[in-house]
Amino acid sequence: MKTQLISSLPDHVEADAIALILFEEKDELLQSVAALDAEITSLIGDLYEKKEFSGKELETAWIHRPPGFLAPRLLLVGGGKSEEFSAAKLRQAAGTALRFAKKKEVRHLAIAPAGDLGPADQVQLLAEGAILAAYQTGVYKTEDQAGSGIEQLSILGRSEHKSRLERGRVIAEAQNFTRELVNEPGNLLTPTVLASRAIQLGYDTDLEVEVLRKSRLEEMKMGALLGVAQGSSQPPVMIVVRYQPKRRPRSNEHLGLVGKAVTFDTGGISIKPSEGMEKMKYDMAGGAAMLGAMKALSELKPAIPVTAVIPSVENMPGPQSQRPGDVVTSMSGKTIEVLNTDAEGRLILADALTYSQKQGCTHLVDAATLTGSIVVALGHERVGVFSNDESWQERFLAASETAGEKMWPMPLDEEYKDQLKSPIADLSNIGTRWGGSITAAMFLKQFADPASWIHLDIAGTAWIEKEKPYLPEGPSGIPVRTLIQVAMDS
Ligand code: BES
Ligand code: MN
Ligand code: ZN
Repeated sequence: MKTQLISSLPDHVEADAIALILFEEKDELLQSVAALDAEITSLIGDLYEKKEFSGKELETAWIHRPPGFLAPRLLLVGGGKSEEFSAAKLRQAAGTALRFAKKKEVRHLAIAPAGDLGPADQVQLLAEGAILAAYQTGVYKTEDQAGSGIEQLSILGRSEHKSRLERGRVIAEAQNFTRELVNEPGNLLTPTVLASRAIQLGYDTDLEVEVLRKSRLEEMKMGALLGVAQGSSQPPVMIVVRYQPKRRPRSNEHLGLVGKAVTFDTGGISIKPSEGMEKMKYDMAGGAAMLGAMKALSELKPAIPVTAVIPSVENMPGPQSQRPGDVVTSMSGKTIEVLNTDAEGRLILADALTYSQKQGCTHLVDAATLTGSIVVALGHERVGVFSNDESWQERFLAASETAGEKMWPMPLDEEYKDQLKSPIADLSNIGTRWGGSITAAMFLKQFADPASWIHLDIAGTAWIEKEKPYLPEGPSGIPVRTLIQVAMDS
C-alpha cells in the first residue's frame, strides 16, 4: 500500500472513497461538513435523524455518489463524543475506515483529519492507524484473500507535514514487521530463521547485525540460556543489532533493548497442557518487537546509541532437555536451580541482561511474554511495567502515553525476593503461585542491576484475542511504538 499526503479539500479528492470522521453531537457533526455542498449536509442530517449514522465511536455508513464530491463513495466513521476524542481514537477511526473500505473493494482510499489535535499530529496518527489496520494475518492461505486490495492511501493534510506522514509510516511499518514475525509458526520461524531475518534487516539498513552462535555462547559461559536450548535440535542464537548515531550523542546514555525470543515454548520437561499450546509460537514477541523498533530507529535516527540483544531458543522436551532440579551457571556467575523448565524466559533473559551491560548499555528495556500471572493481573488490556529506577520508569511511561500503548506500573518490593531462595543454588527460577509476574521480574532484577532497567511483561497483550473494528485478531506488535518513542525522546 502506497501512502501519500494530499492538500485538497475532501470534496476535491479523486479517490475510490473518502472517509470522514464525524462526532456524536449533531451540531458538531454538521459543523464539520458545513464547508461542503448543502445537499451532502442535508443527506448526512437525514442519516442522523433516521439513526442510520449517529457518530458513535467506530460506527460506519456509506454514502454513494455524494453530491458535490469527486470521489464516488463517502465513508462516514463515528468519532464518538467530540470532547472525549483523543490521539488513540483518531488512530482507531483511521483503522476502522481502512478495514471497512478494504472489505468493499476500494483500491484508493482517502482519509480526512478530524478533531482538535494539531494538524501535524493528525497526519501522523491517521497514517499510523490506517497502516496498522492494513496488516493481514492469512499469509499461508493459497487462495486470494477477499479485499486485500487497498493500493493507495491518501491522507488529507498540509504539505508541510509530509515528514510527519513519513514518521507515521515508518513507525506503523515497523510494528507490522514485528507482527509478521510474531505470526510465523514455530516450524517456519526457528532461532536460526529469526537470525537470518535480522541479518536481512542489516543488509536493508545501516544497522550492524551480529549473530552469536552456539559455540560463542558456550565461550561466553551463557549457561542459563544454553540449559534451555539443549532440549531442542534447533541451535540457539543471540542476535545483536547495533545503531550508532552519526553525530556526537547528546548524553552518555546507551539504550539496550532486550527481547525474549522463544520461537516455541512447549514448557520443556515441565510440559504445558496441550490445550492452547499452539499459542506458544508467539513466545518470541518480545524479541520481534526489538527488531521492529530497530528497523524504525534506523530511519528515524535517535541521538543516542541503541543496542538490541535478542536471545532466541526453542523450549522442547527430549532426551537432551534440562531436568527440573538441574543447576546452571549464568554468564553473570550466579547459579540457578531450574525447578520448572517452563520458566525458561527468565533464564535466557538473565544472560541477555548481563551481556547487554557488558556491551555498555546503561538504560535497559526488556520485553517478554513472561508469565501467565500478568494476564491474571492485568488481562489483555495493559502491559505490566517493572523497574529498578523510578525516573527511568517515569520517562518510559510518558513515552507509552505519547505512543498510545497502554501500560501499568507493578510493584517490585525486596520482600518478593524471598520466594526465589534455593537450598542448593543462588536462586531458584520460580516462586510460589502468588504474585508470579512479580517474582519473575524480581528474578530478572538480579541480572539487570545496577543498570537502569525496565521490564515489560507482554504475555497478555502481544496477541489480540478478539478482532477489533480497527485491528484483526493476531499479533499486536506491542510495545514497538513506545520503544521508538523512548529512544527518540532520549
Ligand atoms: N511463555 C510463557 C508465559 C505465557 C503465558 C506467555 C501465557 C503467553 C501467554 C512462560 O514461559 C511460562 O511458561 N511461564 C510460566 C512460569 C511458571 C512456570 C512459573 C507461567 O506463567 O505459567
Ligand atoms: Mn514457559
Ligand atoms: Zn515462555
